[in-house]
Parts: sequence; C-alpha cells; structure tokens
Amino acid sequence: MTSSRRKLVAGNWKMNGLTASMAELVEMCDANPSNCDVLVCPPFPLIGRFVGSAGNSHIEIGAQDCHTAESGAHTGDVSAALLKDVGASAVIVGHSERRADHGESSALIKAKAEAAHANGLTAIVCIGETEAQRDAGNAETLVTAQMRESLPSGATAANTVVAYEPVWAIGTGRTPTTEQIAAMHSALRAALVADLGDEGNGIRLLYGGSVKPNNAAEIFAIDDVDGGLIGGASLKAADFLGIVNAA
Ligand code: PGA
Repeated sequence: MTSSRRKLVAGNWKMNGLTASMAELVEMCDANPSNCDVLVCPPFPLIGRFVGSAGNSHIEIGAQDCHTAESGAHTGDVSAALLKDVGASAVIVGHSERRADHGESSALIKAKAEAAHANGLTAIVCIGETEAQRDAGNAETLVTAQMRESLPSGATAANTVVAYEPVWAIGTGRTPTTEQIAAMHSALRAALVADLGDEGNGIRLLYGGSVKPNNAAEIFAIDDVDGGLIGGASLKAADFLGIVNAA
C-alpha cells in the first residue's frame, strides 16, 4: 500500500526568514523537484510573495497556523479563508511549539483543521510525545489518542496529512531509532484504518524532528513513512533539496 501514497516533503520555516530569504525559495524553485510533493511554509507575511515566486514550479506554499473562524475580532490571527485567498494550499496545525507556546489543545487543533478544510486547504496535523512520555513507555498509545483527538471530522487522504514529530527530536539533532519510528507509524496507520477504513490507508504520515540530508533516505525508507516535516534543514535550499531528493 505504501507505494500508492506519493511522498510529501514539507518545510516549516517557523519564525525564521526575512524578505531576503526569497533567494532560498527561488533556488528551490529553479531546481523544481518533481520526484515527490514539496511544500514550503514560511511565516505569514511572506506567503503571498512566496506563492508568486513559486508559481511556475511544482513547489506549493503553505502556512504554519490558522484561526478557527472565517473572520472577525481576533487580533493578530489569520483565517484559513485569507490563506486560501493569497494562494496557500495547506496549513500546519497543532505543531508542538504552538501546543506549548500557545497552550493549544487537540480540540482546538481539530477545529483549526476543520476550518482549513472548509476553505479548501490541506491540513497537516502534528502530533508527538515529550521525552518524559517516551521514557514512561506509552508513547504509541498516547500519540495515537492525540491523533484521534486532533483529526478533523471528514478527514480524507486528499485533505489531511498527519505529521508525527517527537517533541524531543525537534531541533535537537536527535532522532528516534528506525524501529521506534516504524512502531509509531504502524500504530498510527492501524488507528487510521480502524477509524476511516480504506481512506485511512491513503492518508500520508510524515515523520518530523531533526531530518537532515544525511538521514532522510533512511527515514523515508521506513514502512508507513510518507515523507517528512522539516524545520531547520528547510531554510537553506541546498539542505532542503538534499532531503527532497531522498524522498
Ligand atoms: P527540525 O524541526 O527539523 O528543526 O527538528 C521539525 C519541525 O518542528 O517541524
């Protein structure tokens, strides 16, 4: 079944980049990789420009968060409707940094993913355990439950991607073992199929957390790993393209 899912490599720029960073995107677009789906998610103010710049390439542009509401009195927030309007095709929801920095709950993340869907955006729903939870020995049970709480109703292979990102692997240079990633992705796949039937077989499961050009091929070869969500290594075209080429 793995072969029926096209791999996706998504870059999450987080709160990094200035207008000058457009040069990195231009380099990525010039390379125009087509071996897998490629998405770059810059900070909000750069989305419109990035969409314009990526226009003639296969690279799509996404956002890192959205609000649950269509519009209204929510100072500083951005609606999924506006993201769609400026040309984004996807939005990351529930990244562990938002869960931690902004106290976002799985229920809120589910609502954000539903807002994304209502506006025709793909929702990339992030989940993952802390180091203490991993050490306690119940990471799979916990992360599977987190996924079930965070997944939007009406999730399909076309509108939803799940990103498993162990919190302790993000930005640390540490990654789980191949066996740990395989066990988690297999547990998540089983839950998706149990809940959604064949549609659950089509939903892509990304791995994220310290993916680099030198470990990407090994990680992407694991069963049920359908690509990656890349932070630090997505900021430089050479690194990101190295990862994309490994998919
Ligand atoms: P990292 O971040 O690749 O820098 O570890 C991944 C992420 O947070 O999406």
